[in-house]
Amino acid sequence: MKAEINGIKINYSDEGTGMAVIFIHAFPLDQTMWDEQVAALRDRCRAITLDLRGFGESDVPEGPCLMEEMAADVRGLMSALSVERAVLAGLSMGGYVSLAFYRKYPDAVRALVLADTRATADPIEGRERRMKSAERAEREGASSIADDMVPILLAPSTVETRPRIVRRMRDMVEANSPRGIAAAQRGMAVRPDSTDLLAKIDFPVLVIAGSEDGITPVREAESMGDQIHGSRLRVIEGAGHLSNMERADDFNRALVEFIEEVAKQPSRDRAL
Ligand code: MLT
Repeated sequence: MKAEINGIKINYSDEGTGMAVIFIHAFPLDQTMWDEQVAALRDRCRAITLDLRGFGESDVPEGPCLMEEMAADVRGLMSALSVERAVLAGLSMGGYVSLAFYRKYPDAVRALVLADTRATADPIEGRERRMKSAERAEREGASSIADDMVPILLAPSTVETRPRIVRRMRDMVEANSPRGIAAAQRGMAVRPDSTDLLAKIDFPVLVIAGSEDGITPVREAESMGDQIHGSRLRVIEGAGHLSNMERADDFNRALVEFIEEVAKQPSRDRAL
């Protein structure tokens, strides 16, 4: 389904009823990376996914695509769907967007799942790498980025023994527009540090980390979790950066347990 949000078309899906959980995907993928999580949750709550601007079947605006703009799209989608507060579940870039969302709209967040992500900004070398990667996407296309990303996003054991996951990931990357990929890289490069937000969070937070995540290692997840009062950390053994796809059952166990607990807590918003 598509909604007109902030002047562009955003593709989304909305299944189930009750407390809203909005899943925000990683770079450079699309909303279908959450298929297993939606299947696990749609009978328990309202599971909403979206293709962020520049990805999947959403429009590709001129870049850079800032995390704040993506967060504003999530807020706009919530308004379009009459959702006042939601649990946000973001993986990697989805986590950057979730924190940008919390900075702008703190009252609209009921709980957070921060998976394989970090609150810190990029160091200078990281920004330079992104700028080069953006140019490579524009010059050589999405499959060159898929080549770069397979060994980075997935654990070595996944790459060696689970070709279907590798194929699914590649298909998602290759279906994206090089312009959208470049725009998101440039947007991530200039994202601000969100570490200052962590101590202010006063709702439930689940931090998830793949034990073999080479992009956001477990120690970063621990450090982020330590700064969030009352947060809990779940390490998904054998998973790399895409922990929800690589070990969907373990990821879903942690997710479902968390969502059921959050659902039992009284919400400040009676509409949920
Ligand atoms: C992602 O998975 O969203 C990316 O690895 C995030 C990043 O490049 O920092």
